[in-house]
Amino acid sequence: MLDRSTIGVLGAGNMGEALIAGLVKASIVEPHQVLASRRSEVALAYLADTYGIRTTTDNSALVGDSDIVVLATKPQVLGEVLAETAARFRPGQVVISIAAGVTTTFIEDRIGNDIPVIRVMPNTPALVGEAMSPYCLGRHGSATQALVASQIFSAVGVTVQVEEDMLDAITALSGTGPAYLFYLLEGLIEAGKAMGLPEYLSRALVRQTCYGAAKLVVETPRTPRQLRAQVTSPQGTTHAAMTHLDSLGFHDQLRQAVLKARDRARELGSADIRPK
Ligand SMILES: NC(=O)c1ccc[n+]([C@@H]2O[C@H](COP(=O)([O-])OP(=O)(O)OC[C@H]3O[C@@H](n4cnc5c(N)ncnc54)[C@H](OP(=O)(O)O)[C@@H]3O)[C@@H](O)[C@H]2O)c1
Repeated sequence: MLDRSTIGVLGAGNMGEALIAGLVKASIVEPHQVLASRRSEVALAYLADTYGIRTTTDNSALVGDSDIVVLATKPQVLGEVLAETAARFRPGQVVISIAAGVTTTFIEDRIGNDIPVIRVMPNTPALVGEAMSPYCLGRHGSATQALVASQIFSAVGVTVQVEEDMLDAITALSGTGPAYLFYLLEGLIEAGKAMGLPEYLSRALVRQTCYGAAKLVVETPRTPRQLRAQVTSPQGTTHAAMTHLDSLGFHDQLRQAVLKARDRARELGSADIRPK
């Protein structure tokens, strides 16, 4: 389906650019099939130079010229952007939104015409082609449109189809997910410095340890619990560290943090907070 389609990325900022880079690098589409919009002409010139794609500052023109419209602005401006472009949406298009918290119903109600809307929650590893991108179909989506979303977001990592009522939890777990790990790594770098290691060395140790541990999680069939057990000898150094974290209720605190993120995603998705 993507063979001759034009993919319009409306609001091509960090995530939009990651998607464009993935699509072009993986040759999922030809550069001329991609159209990007945002307000900054300088940023658009950069996108055109870097990826060979077409650009415009005119969101309505982008919608009019695209078969697949990817809504990639911040959630707070999406209502305004949809009001500006609503008249240009037409039957036969597919709309994909990555705006956190914005429901498919919110978008469907504004663009009309029974146009299928797919909501995707990628994460920042999209920038290196390793995103996790769960997606769900709105009221009018079918298996064909699910395939379109899957093909597009496979360009920046891994996809999985989910139900929309899971998306707030997903936002908290994998959308916010990289930040939990970065936070842990920040703490480890500080711990290395506190033990007298030079900062460059502390960073290098933590970076490679993180990379190696992530590869173990991905490339072996063992669960994180099994991998941890493998490095924890009775009364050894890892045992001492883990016993301390357990005594602080670390896992419970982490669970509470994820629930806070889930609740915030719910709030952002509520009509009271998001501008119409
Ligand atoms: N970052 C994440 O981890 C992540 C994860 C999942 C989902 N998301 C979602 O992805 C979306 C984009 O996030 P991001 O991090 O890529 O944000 P971003 O870098 O700020 O990109 C959004 C872009 O929208 C453009 N924009 C603003 N107003 C516009 C308008 N009226 N018309 C056209 N373009 C407009 C901005 O460019 P100009 O100023 O040049 O217009 C900006 O570059 C958000 O909805 C977010 O919820 C982000």
